Amino acid sequence: AGSVDGFKVADLALATLGRKEMTLAEHEMPGLMALRKEFGPQQPLAGKRIAGSLHMTVQTAVLIETLAALGADVRWASCNIFSTQDQAAAAVVVGPEGTQDNPQGSAVFAWKGENLEEYWWCLEQTLTWPDGSGPHSIVDDGGDATLLVHLGVQHEAAGAVPSPGEDDAEEYRILLDTLRRSLADNPSKYTEMAKAIVGVTEETTNGVNRLYQLARDGELLFTGINVNDSVTKSKFDNKYGIRHSLVDGINRATDVMIAGKLAVICGYGDVGKGAVESLRGQGARVVVTEVDPICALQAAMDGLRVMALDEVLSTGDIFITTTGNRDIIMADQMAKMKHNAVVGNVGHFDNEIDMAGLAKIPGIKKVEIKPQVHTWTFPEGKSLIVLSEGRLLNLGNATGHPSFVMSCSFSNQTIAQIELHTKTGEYAAEVYTLPKHLDEKVARLHLPALDATLTTLTKVQADYIGVDVKGPFKPDHYRY
Ligand code: NAI
Repeated sequence: AGSVDGFKVADLALATLGRKEMTLAEHEMPGLMALRKEFGPQQPLAGKRIAGSLHMTVQTAVLIETLAALGADVRWASCNIFSTQDQAAAAVVVGPEGTQDNPQGSAVFAWKGENLEEYWWCLEQTLTWPDGSGPHSIVDDGGDATLLVHLGVQHEAAGAVPSPGEDDAEEYRILLDTLRRSLADNPSKYTEMAKAIVGVTEETTNGVNRLYQLARDGELLFTGINVNDSVTKSKFDNKYGIRHSLVDGINRATDVMIAGKLAVICGYGDVGKGAVESLRGQGARVVVTEVDPICALQAAMDGLRVMALDEVLSTGDIFITTTGNRDIIMADQMAKMKHNAVVGNVGHFDNEIDMAGLAKIPGIKKVEIKPQVHTWTFPEGKSLIVLSEGRLLNLGNATGHPSFVMSCSFSNQTIAQIELHTKTGEYAAEVYTLPKHLDEKVARLHLPALDATLTTLTKVQADYIGVDVKGPFKPDHYRY
């Protein structure tokens, strides 16, 4: 490995700690380590430039080094301003063989507590190699890297970047500024870049929704692999990951006793189901809000009260949004909550909780208790505790999901990247999920670590239910 081509992290001296944590994580990430062993000799990603925009955590560090171990030249940014673990970012830059004075790992542009200008700057750096070339593929989480490229192409074709509308979020305004500068600098940067990109592998529900919208509108410029909807991703990371990391975030942020409190979970999809278990496991009484009658019925039959948010505003102690939708808890609703109610979000974007509306309440005061924990005090004296400024609290206030479940997600990411680069011609500019045999493979890679013994079908049994002895064991429409 040569020296790293540019990077920006908080402090390279943290690399020693980061490396130790990565070593522990590697043991808990059997899927990624097995893929290194299986594909390392073939180098299926040799010479491929991969740009990642995904929470720069210890687990992601192990993913980055897995992609590099398969031959890729990787650059990385975080997909959230609060989610970087600075020691992980430093360790990736230094690399397994390098030193602080001679870093030899991958180029990372990420630190905990970026501002929005820095966020988009980091993403631009990640997409731009020192010789000016762009990536061959993207690993995305939430779709911001894909969005940047698509908007860039769109504005380059128009020859101008539009002014933001009055209602546009600050984040979008800053993104447009970033693109305006880029257009002035190089009027065909993103157009050229998009041509060289074979595809993106997308990690999360929100990003996948964006991909399907682009494909529906005929605007998707390259292949999208929907990693989220691998069963071994969304039915594990979204659910068991959140079950672990939601209480972790609430505890590290507030240390408030959860037992006996009334917790309100908005949304009962995969993340909502994990969130409910997380809080029920601590002895909270849990109420769910839902718009989808199927998920509402599931919640009811799981023994939960299903209510409208307005019915529980004055009785709830902890409010968590998990919908991936916008405008879930509005400022006027927060005004009706109890003193020191805890309000937080684990959906991907920060528009689930109306932070802008909260800030506009006349006379309201925001006090930082510690980074990513704030009280908002209303003029009449009542306060709320808001976590991570309405952004993903499990990553902002804690360290996100644990390694083992991220090994499932990131094994899918790695396999998806291998698919993109070894079967390029087989995928069009559409959105695909990975075939079921690969999903089953990811699960299989994780069973031995949990001491699980799998039963083998007999030929007679396999014929009887109409599957192959080696799987896939379910039809594609099966729901798990
Ligand atoms: P999902 O689609 O399975 O669940 C979302 C649920 O919210 C749906 O059941 C939907 O009916 C419900 N919903 C939508 N609008 C609502 C409203 N106004 N009020 C009440 N309920 C409403 O999606 P999934 O996979 O659970 O993901 C949810 C969000 O969490 C996404 O933004 C996703 O990107 C994010 N995510 C976050 C993770 C984290 O580590 N914090 C991990 C994985 C996903």
